[in-house]
Amino acid sequence: QRTGDLRGRHIVVSAGPTYEPIDPVRFVGNRSTGKMGFAIAEAARDRGAFVTLVAGPVALETPWGVHRVDVQTVAEMLVALEQATADADAVIMSAAPADFRPVSPADHKIKKAPGQETLAIELTQNPDIIASLPGGGVRVGFAAETRNLADYARQKLPAKRLHFIVANDVSAPGSGFGTETNEVVIFHDDGRVEEFPLLSKYAVAHLILDRVLERLQPAD
Ligand code: PMT
Repeated sequence: QRTGDLRGRHIVVSAGPTYEPIDPVRFVGNRSTGKMGFAIAEAARDRGAFVTLVAGPVALETPWGVHRVDVQTVAEMLVALEQATADADAVIMSAAPADFRPVSPADHKIKKAPGQETLAIELTQNPDIIASLPGGGVRVGFAAETRNLADYARQKLPAKRLHFIVANDVSAPGSGFGTETNEVVIFHDDGRVEEFPLLSKYAVAHLILDRVLERLQPAD
């Protein structure tokens, strides 16, 4: 009965990691594969939405019918999302952007000096993408945690001006990075908390979209 309930809506989804260059051949990244975000894009498409998927470097095929924009870094993801969300009904931020990037990436491959034991790479903070996006309609974030899930998720909710946040314990079996499944707790800005069992990422995607639908402004 869900088919078409997002027809005429523009849903923006981010997915995957970012790669922050250290030099031309190395980067700071993380274990995100994009599976969660791609599942959301597919589910939103299946419900009739026009979907823009802003993807970091991942090895996944573009889902049919989805408009995909590829990016590498947080700086690029920010620009792509600013553009995509200008007319969006909702933005779902399932990407794992790097919190820090190398201060000054080397122009050439960094070489070992004779006798060198250590190498220090200075990192600087990246902008918080979702927090700095002005609009986007319904704003959904994720919280990837390995402990104190509820506390950290509750802190991120107002800090990033979200309608709700989808928290996953990325150290739990079957959950988080690279898996086909995810076990999530959704924290709403009105204090409601919803816990779900281990489900396919596609099923989690529909749960998220059900809640986006409830929050959407009436269509023009
Ligand atoms: O891609 P998969 O392999 O399927 O794995 C899925 C996932 C574990 C990556 C996904 O379920 C998930 O948890 N995504 C969020 C990862 C993350 O960056 O979490 P965070 O708690 O560090 O960030 C909180 C929120 O702020 C997230 O919505 C994040 O996208 C956003 N953020 C973070 C940093 C930053 N510079 N800008 C942001 O907008």
